[in-house]
Amino acid sequence: MTKINYKDLRAAILSLTSNETDEIALMATFVCELHHSDARFDWTGFYRVTEPELLKIGPYQGGHGCLVIPFNRGVCGAAARKRETQLVADVDMFEGHIACASSTRSELVIPVQNKAGRLLGVLDIDSDQPDAFTQEDADNLSDLLSEVFALVR
Ligand code: SME
Repeated sequence: MTKINYKDLRAAILSLTSNETDEIALMATFVCELHHSDARFDWTGFYRVTEPELLKIGPYQGGHGCLVIPFNRGVCGAAARKRETQLVADVDMFEGHIACASSTRSELVIPVQNKAGRLLGVLDIDSDQPDAFTQEDADNLSDLLSEVFALVR
């Protein structure tokens, strides 16, 4: 296992989740498949919008993650607040980064919305390697998230 094959990942996740609309079931399955498909990923998980301007930990793989992240904090908060993907090559250069694990060097955080445009949460991938993620990772994962979470209410 080295680098992810997005075509295979998409096929695996879509076959496992077809007809499923429960947000947690989808997140748990997505994160398990994703985390184990790429050696760059040291922490892979979802934060969910549980009340206005607040993210709470959802399904994840890796060491324990912070339980609560307000929209005005960290990389995850920025992705949720701006509804924009955050591709952070060096977490030390990101003002307000929340260090759940001191080993984290780079991050990719992508907003997750349903088809109606409701923000469900964010997908957070952390790597112990600097500059681990590419725009190609961001684009592929963003497309797959839209597809998988489209039918969540
Ligand atoms: N680094 C994130 C916090 C989440 S954890 O690393 C699991 C952030 O700054 O948003």
